[in-house]
Amino acid sequence: MIQVAHSWNAKLYNDKHAFVYDYGKSLIELLAPKSNERILDLGCGSGELTFDISGLAKTVVGLDKSPEMIAKAKYNFPSINFEVGDAANFKVEEKFDAIFSNAALHWVVQYKAAIANMYRALRTGGRIVVEFGGKNNIQTISDALRESLSKRGYEKQAKTTLWYFPSIGEYASKLEAAGFEVVFAQSYDRPTELVDSHTGIVDWIMMFGSSFFDGVNNEDIAEISKEVQDKVKPELYRDGKWYADYKRIRVVARKK
Ligand code: BEZ
Repeated sequence: MIQVAHSWNAKLYNDKHAFVYDYGKSLIELLAPKSNERILDLGCGSGELTFDISGLAKTVVGLDKSPEMIAKAKYNFPSINFEVGDAANFKVEEKFDAIFSNAALHWVVQYKAAIANMYRALRTGGRIVVEFGGKNNIQTISDALRESLSKRGYEKQAKTTLWYFPSIGEYASKLEAAGFEVVFAQSYDRPTELVDSHTGIVDWIMMFGSSFFDGVNNEDIAEISKEVQDKVKPELYRDGKWYADYKRIRVVARKK
C-alpha cells in the first residue's frame, strides 16, 4: 500500500463535520481533568475540545499537524497555546499529566512512533485518554472507494494507506509493549449521521478521503464519489439520512 498525507479544509470541517468534536465531549468526562493538571490535546483540530478542557485544567496545549487547523484554533481561542506538531514526531520541554486525543490517532500510520512520543511526553503515573477509529472503521465506504478506483485502473490510489484502525487487543498490546498499563479499553459501533441528506457520503469522501484521488482527474473524482455513495446506500442510508459506519476504540492507559 502507498502511504499518503492528508491536507485539511478547516472551514468545510467546521461547517459539515462538527460531529467530530461534539462526540468528543464525553471523552472529556473520561479524562476528568483536575484543576492542577497540565494536559496535551493531541490532534486538537480547530480547538473546540481544547477550549473545553482549558476551563477544567491548569494548562492545556493543543497540538495538530495541520497549519490550517492550528490557524483556525488560534483565531477562535486566542488565549490558548496551540502549536503545529505531528503525533509521530513531537517533543515537549515540560511533561504532561495527561494526553487527550479525540478522532485523531487513526491519521497517524506511524502509530509506534506516536505511542513512544506520548510515553516520553508524560510524567510517570500520567495517563493517555484516547479515542479513534478502530478495526473495520468506515469499512463500507473505504471498500467501495477502493473498488471504484480499481475498476477504472487507479490501482495505486486504490491501495492508499491513509489510516490506522487497530482492534483494542492490538492497540492495548502495543501500549503495553511501550511501557503503559492499560486500565480501560472499549470498542463500540458509532454510526454517525452526516449533515447533508443529499450528498452526505460524497461530502465525507471529499473532506476525509481526498488523498485517494491524487492523480485522478476531476471528472473521475466526481463520478467515483457519486458511484461510492450509490453503492453504499443500502447499508448507510436510513430514513432520509446518511450515516458513516464509524467504529471507535477508547483507551485509558498509565505510564508506569
Ligand atoms: C473517524 O473519525 O473515524 C475517521 C474520520 C475521517 C477519516 C477516517 C476516519
